[in-house]
Amino acid sequence: MPILETQNLSYVYGENTPFRVQALENVNLSIEKGELVGIIGHTGSGKSTLMQHLNGLVKPSSGKVLLDGADIHASKAATYAARFRVGLCFQYPEYQLFESTVYRDIAFGPRNMGLSKEQVDERVRRAASYLEIRDTWLNKSPFDLSGGEKRRVAIAGVLAMEPEILILDEPTAGLDPRGRAQIASLIENYRVSTGSTILIVSHSMDDVAETATRVLVMDNGAVALSGTVDEVFRDAAALERHGLDVPQITRVFLSLRARGVEVRTDIYTEKQARRELIRLFKKRGVLQ
Ligand SMILES: Nc1ncnc2c1ncn2[C@@H]1O[C@H](COP(=O)(O)OP(=O)(O)O)[C@@H](O)[C@H]1O
Ligand SMILES: [Mg+2]
Repeated sequence: MPILETQNLSYVYGENTPFRVQALENVNLSIEKGELVGIIGHTGSGKSTLMQHLNGLVKPSSGKVLLDGADIHASKAATYAARFRVGLCFQYPEYQLFESTVYRDIAFGPRNMGLSKEQVDERVRRAASYLEIRDTWLNKSPFDLSGGEKRRVAIAGVLAMEPEILILDEPTAGLDPRGRAQIASLIENYRVSTGSTILIVSHSMDDVAETATRVLVMDNGAVALSGTVDEVFRDAAALERHGLDVPQITRVFLSLRARGVEVRTDIYTEKQARRELIRLFKKRGVLQ
């Protein structure tokens, strides 16, 4: 049984107003335990609205969200429980830091879970260590940190609730390439060591290609494509139809091939690119 599922989920902003927007239309989604699902799609395709449904923050206009097979809106208690079982980290989460110290910000979620002071402390430290947040930062004001550091503190605040499902809405948006690579690898380490189910929304195809086990493409409030990284990124024409492009690194290999270089074109990540270039250089006798 999937851990998380949506059934004919639809959502309308501003129903019965001139500003009515159908943000989601009949979304059927099924996530298995332990998956790392990348959700991509152009701006306005409904990614954030969909994510906000998955922890009960927004109630569907019609359709259902099921957690372990049970409707998260069946009762107030079920909706409340979903908030903690599904951890949602918003886009630009650092704007929501508000406590006087990094420690208190990370502790905010677990404190609301009725845990003891010791249990909260344990969770804060564990979450901080996943995000490589140094002990010396914990007593600082979050406002004394850099943008990338603040982002890590905000993500740690969600991890500290130890959700079974972690949802990250554009976790690397607005960061420089180094900050992006760092956050991507911290998330990957977290997944490997906890086996958590993770959903990552990204408009950067390159980020998703590096880590996801499955990719969903959203377009116009619906899931337009779904498959492995390979299945989705191989079909440049389909991606283009949904307003997306193949990853940058793939484009490099496609253009090498177009110039007559015998390279593979199913290259979606830097790691694959490095392997393929080494193979090519060895074949040409440039490398031993
Ligand atoms: N608070 C809101 N009020 C009205 N319309 C909204 C609101 N938030 C999003 N929308 C609209 O809903 C659609 C989906 O938006 P969103 O879920 O934010 O997409 P994405 O995250 O893929 O960029 C867009 O047309 C957007 O303009
Ligand atoms: Mg969004």
